[in-house]
Amino acid sequence: MSTSLETIVSFAKRRGFIFPSAEIYGGLSSCYDYGPLGVELKNNVKKAWWKAMVQQRNDVVGLDSSILTPEIVWEASGHLQSFHDPLVECSKCHHRFRADHLLEAKQAEPGHMKEKPVDIKDIDCPDCGADLSEPQNFNLLMKTELGAVEGKKDTAYMRGETCQGIYLNFLNTVNSMRKKLPFGIAQIGKAFRNEITTKNFTFRTREFEQMEQQYFVNPKEADSFFEHWKEQRWNWYMKLGIKEENIRWRQHAEDERAHYAVDAWDIEYKTPWGGWGEMAGIHNRGDWDLSRHSKYSKQDLSYKDQQTGDKFIPHIIETSDGADRATLMFLVDAYDEVETRSGKGGTKHDKEVVLRLHKDLAPIKAAILPLSKKEPLQKLAHEVQAGLWGSCMTQYDETGAIGKRYRRQDEIGTPYCVTVDFDSLEDKSVTVRDRDTMEQDRVKIEELADYLKDKFK
Ligand code: GAP
Repeated sequence: MSTSLETIVSFAKRRGFIFPSAEIYGGLSSCYDYGPLGVELKNNVKKAWWKAMVQQRNDVVGLDSSILTPEIVWEASGHLQSFHDPLVECSKCHHRFRADHLLEAKQAEPGHMKEKPVDIKDIDCPDCGADLSEPQNFNLLMKTELGAVEGKKDTAYMRGETCQGIYLNFLNTVNSMRKKLPFGIAQIGKAFRNEITTKNFTFRTREFEQMEQQYFVNPKEADSFFEHWKEQRWNWYMKLGIKEENIRWRQHAEDERAHYAVDAWDIEYKTPWGGWGEMAGIHNRGDWDLSRHSKYSKQDLSYKDQQTGDKFIPHIIETSDGADRATLMFLVDAYDEVETRSGKGGTKHDKEVVLRLHKDLAPIKAAILPLSKKEPLQKLAHEVQAGLWGSCMTQYDETGAIGKRYRRQDEIGTPYCVTVDFDSLEDKSVTVRDRDTMEQDRVKIEELADYLKDKFK
């Protein structure tokens, strides 16, 4: 079943995943806030990434570098000169657009063969139909000023990609952690880009979070590690349950590659708004970054292989995933609507949402549901929940019929519902219902934490 983006946007707001930012003041275009369930989901995405990329490897270490960066970093990285998108402006309504996006959309229109070249001059303003300007290069970096004294402020930049902080700490990491090639440095953090157009909910925003890892290698090994990381990243999405038919690889054409890339492949997702969209990138950045930072900082960032005596600038294989894009895609991929029947003879047809999130990503791992909200069941249910605190995220719900409460939990992807019933008072056991199989297990309360721990191994 394909789900529309409108369905996801309204569901995300209704169930506390994602809200428009500053909504009580009319909102701030393209900014979003993660609600109580959204923050759990996004944190779980980041946790799963960190576990796979740092905690379960000996050759990758973590970092948390600063967002504010001096101008020279972006001069060295080449972003001040080359990190721009082609902007066109309408001569009448002055709305601004990305020329490449307009061209792509035009080519995808019926009657326009993909191969048939379209010139931007052939395209009118999509909002009012007037002429568009010639494309101009628009730099995406966000500039800011540091310091309290007017006229003496220093220019700084909000980082446009998190990986630059990694390059700046290459030497520090080699020296402090005694790291030998090949090794990687990973970090998760916010990045900022003054995107000309933002669209498709959290897919393209001006403030977003990246999960990036830079793997430093001997140039001779760059190709094999490129393949290694392609496989790792693909498998990560597979392991977390993304449907294989919804993702694919796409190699960047030569004229499309970023200024630093020797080779670039994207993992793309089949989006709810039509077509495929980039979810993550794997880039062979060659020696671009470390040679440029060596030159601009006048620090020697070359590496000497102790065994062979070879000295060289390490090449970099980068894996770059968007935390917001991945969260959105996991949400879209997991969203399912099932037909249900109720009433006399099953005559009433209804649609119910089941969020089939991977257990590791589910915001709430177990819901505690007492069959009655009166004592002594309520007290016992609270004790059952307290027994799980510290081991997994739980939610307590005592309102409404039990069937309705199951549905509420299915809708937010809770893998286990723990029902506390009147027999629980006698046999000190609870019933655990599995979201996907609907199977029910009777489990001793004292064994519940271990039972659930086993499910999340
Ligand atoms: N360091 C390499 C780099 O930044 P990129 O392809 O520009 O490469 C990497 O970005 C990932 O960051 C993308 O695959 C996407 O997941 C995420 N990303 C980039 N721009 C974004 C935006 N405007 N909004 C949300 N996510 C974005």
